[in-house]
Amino acid sequence: MVLPLREELRGIEPYGAPQLDVPVALNVNENPYPPSEAVARDVAEAVAGVTRTLNRYPDREFSELRRGLADYLGHGVMPEQVWAANGSNEVMLQLLQAFGGPGRVAVSFAPTYSMYPEYARDAMTGWVVGHREEDFSLDVDHALAVIAEHRPSVVLLPSPNNPTGTALPLHTVRAVCEAAPGVVVIDEAYGEFRRTGTPSALELLSTTPNLVVSRTMSKAFALAGARLGYLAASPEICDALRVVRLPYHLSAVTQTVALVALRHADELLARVDDLRQERDRTVDWLRAQGLEVADSDANFCLFGRFEDRHAVWQGLLDRGVLIRETGPDGWLRVSVGTPEEMAAFRTALMEVLQP
Ligand SMILES: Cc1ncc(COP(=O)(O)O)c(C=O)c1O
Repeated sequence: MVLPLREELRGIEPYGAPQLDVPVALNVNENPYPPSEAVARDVAEAVAGVTRTLNRYPDREFSELRRGLADYLGHGVMPEQVWAANGSNEVMLQLLQAFGGPGRVAVSFAPTYSMYPEYARDAMTGWVVGHREEDFSLDVDHALAVIAEHRPSVVLLPSPNNPTGTALPLHTVRAVCEAAPGVVVIDEAYGEFRRTGTPSALELLSTTPNLVVSRTMSKAFALAGARLGYLAASPEICDALRVVRLPYHLSAVTQTVALVALRHADELLARVDDLRQERDRTVDWLRAQGLEVADSDANFCLFGRFEDRHAVWQGLLDRGVLIRETGPDGWLRVSVGTPEEMAAFRTALMEVLQP
């Protein structure tokens, strides 16, 4: 039988980086540090507690978690300004479901996070992509011209950007929010890894009604396996998302794990500083090898340029180091791992580049 698949889905492969079993996996911007024994024990105890009420649906409004996330974000964010879902991927799909739709357009600027066009497609929203400059910054005049031409109901801007690591200055965010007729999503999945002095768009939240700042526990909190993403925005935007969410979309187990992680925020985030330093060391080392490296405010580095980037990627994989073949042609992206993993990456790269 020919499946009645939507035309635009025919022949499309599911999104996802290869999940290969390799000694050094530096390809999906995970946090390399597993939870400590203390955190693991607390999570296990809390989850054991919640199993006794799993016959009941969870708190649909995840009120305690919203309070915890609002406290964590600071900047005067109130619980009714917080929304959460199963990873920021789901948060952003819900944004497209609520604010996109047939006859509407979502805009981003390439290179950008590769899932955005998929959210747009799945929410039957038009997709328009402008461009970033040679140094991966966003030219405000170009951004405003694209917005004026396409009148997007959603603008998606990762900051720090994936795959380049580039953060947006606040004046750019402000200009885009003032010009955009719809909501502007500043995707700060890597926000906690910002270099000192790089601001968060949260600073603009109280004065910018169409601004959404998206975050995740997958990276800084080392909780990618738990699937918890969230955002801060106006209560009206959060209320709109309540309309499109599936009933009880955040399981009691997920809510419990996220709450325990928030209680251990200090310990979990201490590792972020180690990773920021390791990131800076990696940038310096790659530059010392004569390579180009994009300035990074994230937990990964985009470096190049290679005539045949696939050969370099394959050479590293042959030596047990998996990185990501993504970004503009000629560039590769490496996630920041432990000092030992980065040493393995450096050794392998030297072998590949100077055979
Ligand atoms: C820019 C950006 N946004 C969002 C996500 C989604 O993260 P999660 O769904 O794990 O919260 C990622 C994941 O890599 C990302 O790079």
